[in-house]
Amino acid sequence: MQASFDYTGANVLIFGGTSGINLGIAEAFAKAGATVGVCSRSEDKVNAAVETLKAYGGKAAGYSLDVRNVDDVKSAAQSFHDEFGKIDVLVSGAAGNFPAPALGMSPNAFNSVVSIDLLGTFHVLQSCHPYLKQPGASVINISAPQAYVPMMFQSHVCAAKAGVDMLTRTLALEWGPMGIRVNSIVPGPIANTEGMDRLAPSEESKNLVRKSVPLGRFGEKSEIADTAMFLSSNAAQYVSGVILAVDGGWGLSGAGSLANSMMHG
Ligand code: NAP
Ligand code: COA
Repeated sequence: MQASFDYTGANVLIFGGTSGINLGIAEAFAKAGATVGVCSRSEDKVNAAVETLKAYGGKAAGYSLDVRNVDDVKSAAQSFHDEFGKIDVLVSGAAGNFPAPALGMSPNAFNSVVSIDLLGTFHVLQSCHPYLKQPGASVINISAPQAYVPMMFQSHVCAAKAGVDMLTRTLALEWGPMGIRVNSIVPGPIANTEGMDRLAPSEESKNLVRKSVPLGRFGEKSEIADTAMFLSSNAAQYVSGVILAVDGGWGLSGAGSLANSMMHG
């Protein structure tokens, strides 16, 4: 059964919303009637995403920026607010990843992922806070199993996403009294994404991953989008500070085959 939500009149702003899982979330909210803003570095990707979103019949806007630049994040948040009004749903999903052993990456390589995923999430949440609907806003950080499953060749991502989940929990405490809920979604291995193509590039390695998921398959982008819409809906109005795995049970067994898949390419 496909979940169904009505977001007519809602304003949704998604950082890293121009491809993959986050664009899937953006499209689902647009289909459900929301006005959607998306932000990422590539102007071409931003323009293409805005066209895709407008095709659902509602309003959409795009901002080309790097989440590592706090001034640009602030100015996108202000522009979105000035054009459309308060933000009902904020998604922080910009991320970078590449497989590399700790001894095979420079401090700048480690820092690039921490700066995009963790510091970038801090920039996004702090900069958007003045424009969040109070009470009522839903903030969603896109995390990863690496936040709690140690994985070879992923020290940078493990450190960054663990930090993202602690930001989720801490800000749920600080912002709960303002009526703002903050949650993390932890996608499992999701089909047809840049993230999985980087970590399990071959069909053989994808099969290894597939076999290690208790539900025996990759997830779909639409399944992450459904969860984002659920978390932002009245059905979840007492849910805050939660790290919600949407991973077919993958994290339970340590998502162990991912390191194998990286070793075997
Ligand atoms: P993706 O398509 O590469 O999405 C990443 C998005 O972030 C793109 O829109 C990218 O656009 C943007 N971005 C990257 N660096 C940025 C920066 N410095 N500033 C602003 N925007 C930036 O990857 P995906 O696989 O769908 O991953 C999406 C999210 O899901 C990530 O948070 C990832 O950690 C998480 N996740 C994915 C999986 C999976 O199976 N794929 C599993 C667990 C968690 P630009 O290149 O234009 O900047
Ligand atoms: N192994 C080791 N180091 C690597 C690497 C790899 N596979 N890929 C990049 N690096 C290093 C670079 O050499 C550089 O370090 P240096 O300056 O000491 O040489 C550092 O990482 C930054 O690389 P750069 O390309 O300048 O960074 P960027 O800011 O342009 O890009 C990345 C950021 C590296 C995270 C890039 O992969 C990216 O843009 N990713 C976004 C898309 C993505 O990862 N999607 C999946 C999301 S889960």
